[in-house]
Amino acid sequence: MSGKQAVTAHAGGPGRGMVILGAHGQLGRALAKALAGLGPVQALGRADCDIGDEAAVQAMVRRLRPGVIVNAAAYTAVDKAQTERDAAFLINALAPGYLADAALSVGAWLVHYSTDYVFDGTATRPYREDDPVAPQNVYGKTKRLGEEAVLARPITAFVLRTAWLYDREGRNFLTTIRRLAAQGPVRVVADQYGSPTPVGSLAEATRAILAHPHAAECAGLYHAACRGTVSWHGFAEAIVRSCGLAVAVSPIATADYPTAARRPAYSVLDCGRLAQRMGIVLPPWGQALADLFGEGP
Ligand SMILES: NC(=O)c1ccc[n+]([C@@H]2O[C@H](COP(=O)([O-])OP(=O)(O)OC[C@H]3O[C@@H](n4cnc5c(N)ncnc54)[C@H](OP(=O)(O)O)[C@@H]3O)[C@@H](O)[C@H]2O)c1
Repeated sequence: MSGKQAVTAHAGGPGRGMVILGAHGQLGRALAKALAGLGPVQALGRADCDIGDEAAVQAMVRRLRPGVIVNAAAYTAVDKAQTERDAAFLINALAPGYLADAALSVGAWLVHYSTDYVFDGTATRPYREDDPVAPQNVYGKTKRLGEEAVLARPITAFVLRTAWLYDREGRNFLTTIRRLAAQGPVRVVADQYGSPTPVGSLAEATRAILAHPHAAECAGLYHAACRGTVSWHGFAEAIVRSCGLAVAVSPIATADYPTAARRPAYSVLDCGRLAQRMGIVLPPWGQALADLFGEGP
């Protein structure tokens, strides 16, 4: 990178204003709250800016000239992506490149999110950022291409791979289990392991990254998920307990719950790089879940 490019890239930052894309998704909503104290925030939903429309992205960035672009928009329907490949490819693989080009044009930083599903799940210890990727489904493949598109541009970019996102509202594993458990016993896959991460914890980690005094020097690829490992079954049991419900949660095998997309059996992320370089650590998954229920309505 030339000196001139470096100066331009580092001129971004939250003080110049932040734009959140996909602001009505579960992570987008949490980001709008968490980043508010750092500087002016523009929270844009799909109707305000379709990230798959390159001209619309460029026009938005020229108009707002943000210091940081935070991309919470994605094609996240993992099973549907198997048959809607073009849509998933546009939003997850091409659009991050449009955002990175737009960031370059105004010297903005870019925060982009990726997934534990870039890995094949055969590891026996948590995955590090430089472990080989081998996505097993269309969603994971398109998300990997999106990572590459962002990291290839000479910009200050933070690509955060996260996992098993949920919140107290919206459509996610927690709300699904809560709804099903209110009706009766539930059966949940017990042979896939990961790290459930509430969107609030990831949004808070994003805030800490952007607020870090040497943020620009720390740009790169990071794993950002809650600590610890649990199966979907173990997570469901914890949710049911937290809701005060007394229904049975039975373990089943992945083979007993066929889905269109294959999922990694083990996709725990080693988040040591984020801790070592920036001093940012997400809470253990169980504590994060308890905190979410402790927040009140
Ligand atoms: N959910 C998980 O378990 C999980 C796990 C690992 C990584 N991630 C990653 O984390 C990030 C946030 O995920 P999330 O769970 O918050 O997803 P989400 O709740 O599905 O939200 C995604 C948002 O993106 C919007 N969107 C889709 N296409 C768009 C477009 N062309 N232009 C603008 N907005 C568009 C959606 O709008 P509509 O509602 O109008 O479609 C939705 O509001 C994503 O990068 C995802 O890949 C998620």
